[in-house]
Amino acid sequence: MNEQDKLKTEGITLGPLAKCYDLLNSTIGHRDRFFREIAELAGVKEGDRVLDVGCGTGILGIWEKEKAGDKGYVAGIDASRRMIDQARKNATKRGVEVDFKSGLIEDIPYDDNYFDVVTSSMMVHHLPLSLKKKGFQEIFRVLRPGGHLLLVDFGRPGSLFGKLFGYLLLSWIESTRANLKGMLPGLLEEAGFKEVKVLKKIPLREIISAQKPPA
Ligand SMILES: C[S@@+](CC[C@H](N)C(=O)[O-])C[C@H]1O[C@@H](n2cnc3c(N)ncnc32)[C@H](O)[C@@H]1O
Repeated sequence: MNEQDKLKTEGITLGPLAKCYDLLNSTIGHRDRFFREIAELAGVKEGDRVLDVGCGTGILGIWEKEKAGDKGYVAGIDASRRMIDQARKNATKRGVEVDFKSGLIEDIPYDDNYFDVVTSSMMVHHLPLSLKKKGFQEIFRVLRPGGHLLLVDFGRPGSLFGKLFGYLLLSWIESTRANLKGMLPGLLEEAGFKEVKVLKKIPLREIISAQKPPA
């Protein structure tokens, strides 16, 4: 891959898939309805400052901006410039203003305590364990005291199908192993988050909420 296409990271980036990623997502029934529900669950309110980390083609950020309204500020960062280009195109097509920019979870380009809400969907399993830890510390840093995180990713499989799929297809990928072992809530607590809860289990994935304690 061309070096200019992505920032330097040990995370797995999907730049070459950027153009067909939305099609892929809609084919597996994952796109608008799903992201709208996630923006809802994230509790984004009018006027909020929101960051979507590993935003891919930006659909979640776009729904978050619908909720945050004109007075809100929504940003999305991704290591892949091609993903950011696609996210900007999607936002322009929908007439929504979201600040999509290149950026890494391990070095989030924002000041401390800046955001009310941070979200991240299906990106943490792209990171080796050390980067998951660093990334959670960074999210904690940019959230304001009392702000919260909503995370969607692979979790410990519950059903027999999930266990088969998880262990046969996903467990050989080093970066998904911590997810499958159910380690994400513990890693979030290690980074300082409180009230870490698995809100919902959805096929193969879980939705986790976590709070930065109030000052
Ligand atoms: C499976 S995609 C998920 C995209 C989107 N959030 C979604 O749910 O459709 C994972 C994304 O994480 C990005 N990524 C990988 N490593 C990263 C890092 N270190 N920092 C920021 N983004 C990263 C990839 O480029 C990719 O766009």
